[in-house]
Amino acid sequence: MDESYLAEFRARSEAESARVGPPESFPLLPDLPLGRYTDPEFFDLEMEAVFGRAWLYAGHASELVGPGSYKVIGLPAGEVVLVRGDDGVVRAFRNACRHRGAPVVRSAQGHTRLLVCGYHSWTYDLTGQLVRVPEERDFLGLCKDDRGLVSLRCESWGGWYFVTLDPSAPGLLDWLEPVASLLADVARSPLRVIDSKAVEVECNWKILAEGFLEVYHARTVHPTTVAPTLDTRGTVISLFERGHQNMLSPVNTGSRGDSRESLATIEHVPAVLREQIQAAHGIFPNLITPLDARGFPFLVFWPTGVAQTRLEIVWFAADWGDGTMPGPELWQRRLSRFDSIMEEDYRNLAHIQRSMQSAAHGGQVIGYQERRIWHLHAWIDRMIGESRVPAALRVPDALAGWVERMPVQA
Ligand code: FES
Ligand SMILES: [Fe+2]
Repeated sequence: MDESYLAEFRARSEAESARVGPPESFPLLPDLPLGRYTDPEFFDLEMEAVFGRAWLYAGHASELVGPGSYKVIGLPAGEVVLVRGDDGVVRAFRNACRHRGAPVVRSAQGHTRLLVCGYHSWTYDLTGQLVRVPEERDFLGLCKDDRGLVSLRCESWGGWYFVTLDPSAPGLLDWLEPVASLLADVARSPLRVIDSKAVEVECNWKILAEGFLEVYHARTVHPTTVAPTLDTRGTVISLFERGHQNMLSPVNTGSRGDSRESLATIEHVPAVLREQIQAAHGIFPNLITPLDARGFPFLVFWPTGVAQTRLEIVWFAADWGDGTMPGPELWQRRLSRFDSIMEEDYRNLAHIQRSMQSAAHGGQVIGYQERRIWHLHAWIDRMIGESRVPAALRVPDALAGWVERMPVQA
């Protein structure tokens, strides 16, 4: 991130602060239909065409250290196990035995030499090959080579692993651009997962995600926590291809009185991130990361039902190598401060879902500063295919002209 980027950011930010309304060319956006958050058929379309075809964040190299280390992730389509082979390659398989579908791994994370089904002990090696079938004599014509675990595409960017259910999806890096370029410094930094947890929230996954796609709510929901730290009126938003986007807010200088200054800075991550700019990048469809040179979270939104979402919060810190984890008490304080901010965010969500289910308010009104929400919906419809979206629920791609096609240098 060089001076010219900072200068460009400041100029754009000043223009945002000074404007009296949206730019003249900004279109009038219709309301977002409530059925997009409540209709089971629309939800099924999202699961098939968006979550069934996108690259989805699955895990980090620091969670898969050494051959046989594995991690289970819950995709909407079912559990997937990521496992590192003896050759060092991380592979992804459906966590479903080829005999009668029982899981081959039951703990969320661990280490194993073989994947042994807990029902009748069919056994797979770390490449997914079926290597042992008890009482094999009873299975007429069974060809073990044809009954390996079902694999998914799994690719990495930096130390991050993503999976997709779509064999014809573009390569991961193509999918992630221009975010991959924007985050190139972060991606080449040595990172370690320092904390990871999941929270169940009673609302559609988009209601939760949308709370992280705007800063408009900061003054109301986070008056003493987030709001004093950010100049929200100077926020600069960029929309990118494939539904990715980001939001950069100027940080109010002198507002950072917390403990994070004492935490190790991540190599290659510009200190300006969080000291001067709060950058939050969104990777379509379900990942948001508010960057901070002293450690940052991935927020991953996993739909588990039309009105049910599992939020996975994964924190990355500068890798501390072979030594002991630095500053555990500082991290604890920082994480609990973050948790209380998240509690502020959760408060409205189940109520919003109920308002939508009872059609209490007609539709979602989206302002200029909330246009990342529109972009998310437009790309959901793009993935599904406009003609397959019920007419009453369609979201026109009204902001196509606002997509920045060239990566902004960071
Ligand atoms: S279901 Fe896995 S061994 Fe029977
Ligand atoms: Fe918030």
